[in-house]
Amino acid sequence: MSLTVALSKGKLLAGSEQLFRRAGLPFPAAEGRRLVVPMDGIRFLFVKDMDVPTYVEHGVADCGIAGRDVLLESGSDVYEPLDLGFGRCRLVVAEPRGAARRRSTVRVATKYPRVTAAHFLGRGVPAEVVKLAGSVEIAPGLGLADCIVDVVETGRTLQENGLEAVEDVAASSARLVVNRASFHARREELSRLIEALRRAVA
Ligand code: PRP
Repeated sequence: MSLTVALSKGKLLAGSEQLFRRAGLPFPAAEGRRLVVPMDGIRFLFVKDMDVPTYVEHGVADCGIAGRDVLLESGSDVYEPLDLGFGRCRLVVAEPRGAARRRSTVRVATKYPRVTAAHFLGRGVPAEVVKLAGSVEIAPGLGLADCIVDVVETGRTLQENGLEAVEDVAASSARLVVNRASFHARREELSRLIEALRRAVA
């Protein structure tokens, strides 16, 4: 039976492909639209970034590549043996440039409701979290929220939408995640994969 690897169709895809190729591992050609692709002894699943930890935790995939931001949000119980070094970004609180201090409960729009709630709770700031699926940067300007918690890579999206980062929440990069049962049951194959990736990272 081949190893199943869950990968994100989003921003981490290009870095994942480069890493696999550098490691001498198979990787399907980019132009395809199939979401389950068997290739040279590996079965690839291409899923939404937030779903990678779910497939791995449930053992549908033996391993996968997910951002630390997504892992923090999912809270999934997976083994995380390797920082893959790409996809570096920061989760930040951002608000309209020059925003004046506001009401006592902050309204925060985000794709990361758990991380956001924990962050504000940890700081003792009452917060109401508004969950969005994306494009959260427009929420403050439209009156849906006072601020956002989102991922910043180049800072361009914040800048072009009149926002500035005011607080760090967490640093992120791509991580290899492994299903805990698979790690024992398929130790040999997974160790080979992990070692190949470790060498490609270094
Ligand atoms: C992410 C994030 C920001 C943007 C940050 O969005 O949510 O919007 O990238 O990148 P930057 O700092 O380089 O501008 P993504 O492209 O994943 O789309 P989404 O908002 O639909 O999730």
